[in-house]
Amino acid sequence: MAKPNDKRTMKIHLNNFLLMGCVIALFVLACQQQSTDRRRALRLTPAFITQQLDDAVAQIKVLADHVPADRMPRTFQADTSVSSDTEWWTSGFYPGSLLYLYEYSGDEALLQLAKDKLTILEKEKYNKGTHDLGFMLYCSFGNALRLTGDTAAYKEILLTGAESLISRYNPTVRAIRSWEGWTYPVIIDNMMNLEFLTQASKLSGDPKYRDIAITHANTTIKNHYRPDYSSYHVIDYNPADGGIVAKKTAQGAFDESVWARGQAWGLYGYVMMYRETGDKTYLDFAENVAAFILNHPNMPDDGVPYWDFDAPDLPDESPYAADYKANRDASAASILASALIELSTHTAGETSAHYLTKAEKIVESLSKAPYKAESGTNGGFILKHSVGSIPHGGEIDVPLTYADYYYIEALMRYKRLLEG
Ligand code: GLY
Repeated sequence: MAKPNDKRTMKIHLNNFLLMGCVIALFVLACQQQSTDRRRALRLTPAFITQQLDDAVAQIKVLADHVPADRMPRTFQADTSVSSDTEWWTSGFYPGSLLYLYEYSGDEALLQLAKDKLTILEKEKYNKGTHDLGFMLYCSFGNALRLTGDTAAYKEILLTGAESLISRYNPTVRAIRSWEGWTYPVIIDNMMNLEFLTQASKLSGDPKYRDIAITHANTTIKNHYRPDYSSYHVIDYNPADGGIVAKKTAQGAFDESVWARGQAWGLYGYVMMYRETGDKTYLDFAENVAAFILNHPNMPDDGVPYWDFDAPDLPDESPYAADYKANRDASAASILASALIELSTHTAGETSAHYLTKAEKIVESLSKAPYKAESGTNGGFILKHSVGSIPHGGEIDVPLTYADYYYIEALMRYKRLLEG
C-alpha cells in the first residue's frame, strides 16, 4: 500500500504530467492556429501557383533544347542562347531549377536532365578558386540529395565541395575570401554560400563548417552594413590583421550606393542563418534589412527593384515601349520574394502578413508581362528584365538563370504555405 509521502509524490508527478500535457497541447494549438492564420492570409490561389509552375515546367523544356550537353545555360541575348562552362558561378542554378520542377511535377525527364548536368558539374567540388560553391554545388547537389536521399551519390561531392569552400576562410579576417585580386575582398553575395556549410555540418557531423558560416555571418553584420541596414557590396580586408582596407562596390552604381541584388542576397542570407541556428540576432537583423528594402522610396510599386536603389537615372522614365522596364532587376526581385516568403514563416501575426503581402506582390508582378516571357520565347528562360552588372556592361536587361531559380523557389515555398 502507498505511504502518505508516496501518495504526495505520485500526486506531484500526476500534476506535473498534466501540466506538461497542457503546455504541449497549447503549443500544438498555437502552431495550428499560426498555420491556419497564415493560410487564411494567403492571397495567391493554388490555381495561380500551379499555373506558374506548369508554365515553368513547359518553359524549362524549351531551355533544355538550347543548352549544349557539356555546358550550362546562362542567359539569352540578342536572340542568342548564351551558355557557360561549369566553372562559372551560375552553373548550379539550372540543375537546381530542374530539380525543383521535378519535385513539383514528378516528371522523371526533368530529373534525368538534372542528373546529366550534375555529371558535368561534379568536378567543381575541387574548385578552390571561387567562393561561389554554395550556388554551384548546394543549389544543385544539395537539392538532389534532399529529393533523392541518395547519400551514396551526393554526400562525398558535397563534403569535398565544402572543404574547397572553407579553404578560402581566413581566421584573422573571420570571413571567406570572395575573389582573387583586390587585397582580401569579401562581397555581400557570399552570405548565400553559408547554407552549404551549415548543411555540410549536418551531413558530416563536423561542426567546423557551421562555425565558419556563423563567424562569416557575424563579420558581415559588423562590417558590411551601414547604420540604415543597407549593405556595401565589397569589403576589402587586410588579411594580416583583419582590418578594413576599403568599402567599395563592383556591381553597384557607386561605392556608397545600394546595389539591389546585394540587398536581396543579404536578406536571404540572414533569414537562412536564423533558420539554421535559431539565433534571434539573425532574425532581428533580417527584419531590419527587410524594412530598409521594403520602405525604400525608390522601391517601385510592383516590387521589382531597380538594379540599384541609388542608380543615377531613377525614377525610370523609359523612352521605350510601354512594357519596357529599363534598369529593373527581376533577379533581385525573385531572391527577395523567396526570402520574404521564408521570413513570413519565422514571424507571426501582422508582421508575417506584411512580409507575405510584399512577397505576393512580387510573385504576381513577375508572373506576368513584362517580366514573364511568352511560352516558347526568351530562349526558354522564364523571366525577362534582369541585370547582371551595369558597371561591367554585361547582361543588362536580359533573362538570367538565377532569376528563374529563385522565382521557381519562391513558387515552391508559396506552394508549401498553401499546403499548410
Ligand atoms: N554573385 C554575383 C552576382 O550577384 O552578380
